[in-house]
Amino acid sequence: MSVHKKIKKVTTHVLQAMKNRSEKITMLTAYDFSMARILDAANIDVLLVGDSASNVMAGHETTLPITLDQMIYHAQSVVRAIDRALVVVDLPFGSYQGNSKRALDSAIRIMKEAGAHAIKMEGGIEISESIKRILSAGVPVMGHLGLIPQSIYKFGTYTVRAKEDAEANKLIEDAKALEELGCFAIVLEKIPAKLAKQVTESVNIPTIGIGAGPDVDGQVLVTHDMLGITKDFKPRFLRRYLELFDQIKLATEQYISDIKSGNFPNDREQY
Ligand code: KIV
Repeated sequence: MSVHKKIKKVTTHVLQAMKNRSEKITMLTAYDFSMARILDAANIDVLLVGDSASNVMAGHETTLPITLDQMIYHAQSVVRAIDRALVVVDLPFGSYQGNSKRALDSAIRIMKEAGAHAIKMEGGIEISESIKRILSAGVPVMGHLGLIPQSIYKFGTYTVRAKEDAEANKLIEDAKALEELGCFAIVLEKIPAKLAKQVTESVNIPTIGIGAGPDVDGQVLVTHDMLGITKDFKPRFLRRYLELFDQIKLATEQYISDIKSGNFPNDREQY
């Protein structure tokens, strides 16, 4: 029987066992109780309380504005909903960069106040001090390389990263360094599929891709993109499983029309 089917609670060790058995890991974002409950009921392996909440929940253009307090609020709602999934929470911009003491404090707040199972941080060797310090407190860390949206103003665009040799080589070195430090997995965002395969073969910990092709140990998407709630975001890597924007709009129009016409509520829908 697959590890995925047998497991009642997903842990970082379960993810490693899945990689060892070449069993794909599934991950989606979640920011609220109701959605997290549905995704967990479907047996998703990992729920990421991503700082993409800044975009899809709060309507900001980037992930930079979301605060640690706001991330903790989202994480608390998700943790309350789940029975099975591993809950990983993004350390938001400004809560860890350049200061390993602040990084540790931020990670501890997320674990203590939200009851999360792990945290995720963007970057490679340059954040190794912070990663080390957080790991030394017993908090599991997921890395994130490639397109790292918290550095969008450094990159200037959201286009594919590491197409040139120098950046690709640095990414491989960063992945090895994250493994060496003790990270339990690495997200690879928007990099060439060939490079993602190379990274996945170079490290023993699981890699989770988003726009990184099929040869990684698992896949992650932003749930609101995958369900078609965010209508205008259409990168090539995205597969939409529903068109919820249109379906919810249609249902709302029907609701409005039923009220206006006196069709709702009917005889059975009252006391
Ligand atoms: O914040 C987020 O949703 C993420 C995923 C895109 C991996 O970091």
